[in-house]
Amino acid sequence: MSEGYSDADLFSTGDIFARRELLRVGHVPDRDRIVGRDSEMRQVGAALGPATDGGPPRNLIIFGKTGTGKSLVSRHICRRARKHSQKSGINLRHVYVDCSDADTETRVARELVLQVRDELAPSMDVPVQGIGASEYYRYLWTLLDDVDVFVVILDEIDKLADDDVLMQLSRAEESGKTDAYVGVISISNKIEYREQLNERVNSSLQDRELTFHPYDAPQLEEILENRRDAFLDGVLHDDVIPKTAALAAREHGDARKAVDILFEAGSLAEERDDTEVTSQHVDDAQQRTEVKRFQDLVSGSTPHVKYILRALALLTLNSDDQQFSTSEIHRLYERLAENEGSDPLSHDRVYRLLKEQSFLGITESYHTGGGASKGAFLQHRLMKDPEIVIEALDTGKQDD
Ligand SMILES: Nc1ncnc2c1ncn2[C@@H]1O[C@H](COP(=O)(O)OP(=O)(O)O)[C@@H](O)[C@H]1O
Ligand SMILES: [Mg+2]
Repeated sequence: MSEGYSDADLFSTGDIFARRELLRVGHVPDRDRIVGRDSEMRQVGAALGPATDGGPPRNLIIFGKTGTGKSLVSRHICRRARKHSQKSGINLRHVYVDCSDADTETRVARELVLQVRDELAPSMDVPVQGIGASEYYRYLWTLLDDVDVFVVILDEIDKLADDDVLMQLSRAEESGKTDAYVGVISISNKIEYREQLNERVNSSLQDRELTFHPYDAPQLEEILENRRDAFLDGVLHDDVIPKTAALAAREHGDARKAVDILFEAGSLAEERDDTEVTSQHVDDAQQRTEVKRFQDLVSGSTPHVKYILRALALLTLNSDDQQFSTSEIHRLYERLAENEGSDPLSHDRVYRLLKEQSFLGITESYHTGGGASKGAFLQHRLMKDPEIVIEALDTGKQDD
């Protein structure tokens, strides 16, 4: 047997990582690894405080951009509230629902039931399909029979198609469906969503509102420092963590992004059989995560939209100008589409598709010369790095 097939070789854990799980999405750091969120933790704690003593929790709405610790802090505090309430003999349960997965009333209701069932009555049979929201609520109220307080975290609540779940939960106790006090922590990444949410959610759900602000570079640095032990000793160059923190701070202080880039940098070093992680790996990792993100963003788009974006990216890359008229883009788009053997869409369709892209923040469209009046030109500008766009469209091509 050759040496390359020894178990140690075959199952090698590499030269870079010691505990890579510390850098995985969804990893919940211990309390002493949560940085710069003391006041937010206190406020979530204050909302749940009465509940740990058997009283009604306050509902809470949390806003803030992605990667500002909203999900982390909410889950962490719920877990602690649950432990703390045990001391006073209070049965507090919490469930976490991501509304980007469970985006209808029935799906959320089912998720609530299944999570509580798994915890409190694993042998109970619950149908996973063929029944509606109201049946799921019946299961839920039965399951909550011995529960004093039930806290529901509804994350990414702006993805939820309707408000019926909110209504049900907010009125459950008052309408006698259950004896448990029900509290809801609603979370949204979209600050713009605030007005709408306030309208949607009935007044009993908006006891308190809390905004999570972005992290600054030193905080991001500390978050990353706290996970240095994800790497083997001596593997990380000194400038890697500060550089990663600076990149993520420039974006909008997104901790998830910072952690992702650090993980990607380590993975790149590993793939290349390097034994150290340098700032070059960080640059390359940044590029790679941007490309992936853009691919996710356009993954549902038609090939024509992709030709249009490629045309705009090529124009941007090959000219000093940053803005292009619909006609300029259309001309290049026609060639690209024909090269791929498809019939190009009309000028008007391309114009409308470009406007759609501007809603997604991929492009920006505006009038020049004479404002929005008749005869004014519509110009379009790519809001992403053209090299990233082209690389993403190239590597994403096989999947089309
Ligand atoms: N204050 C923090 N301390 C340590 N790690 C953090 C902190 N905030 C965020 N993170 C890390 O970033 C990831 C994303 O945070 P998350 O709570 O999911 O952000 P949000 O829900 O606001 O989008 C978390 O899984 C965690 O790894
Ligand atoms: Mg989140």
